[in-house]
Amino acid sequence: MQTSVTSSAPRFSDAGVIWLKLAVVYLIIGISMGIAMGASQNFTLRPVHAHINLLGWTTMALAGLIYSVFPKAGESRLARLHFWLLNLALPVMMSALALLLFGQVGVAPVLALAEIVAALGIVAFAVNMFINLKH
Ligand code: HEM
Repeated sequence: MQTSVTSSAPRFSDAGVIWLKLAVVYLIIGISMGIAMGASQNFTLRPVHAHINLLGWTTMALAGLIYSVFPKAGESRLARLHFWLLNLALPVMMSALALLLFGQVGVAPVLALAEIVAALGIVAFAVNMFINLKH
């Protein structure tokens, strides 16, 4: 028997697509690091691996799914702010953290700044959820 799609079917927004694609890139990088750590038995970059997987893959994939399901939130200015703050901060934050773990303590202010920007991105997400989480 054939099922038909009616006009009452939920509308999924394309706003989540870029988040999901970037999340998968972070997943590939994160698991590659995990495999490299296991193979080399050198776990120096363990916190970088954990944050690439948890902020890059898990958090961004969840944002992508939420923004796909809730177009008002996904297409809002807060979503754009969330996107740019997090996606500009995360690569800087991960690079600075890696350098710090390799002993470059001078990079600490850069790490702190990137962490603040990333956190502001999460704040934009939280405000977006409270204001725009509706169909
Ligand atoms: C093929 C996939 C993965 C491999 C091979 C891998 C490998 C590893 C290794 C070797 C460690 C260090 C363990 C130790 O120090 O004894 C680790 C730690 C960790 N991994 Fe993964 N991992 C993978 C995927 C993931 C994913 C998908 C996540 C999260 C979504 C994740 C989150 C973590 C966390 C939170 C830690 C602990 C970090 C810490 O203690 O500082 N991993 N992983």
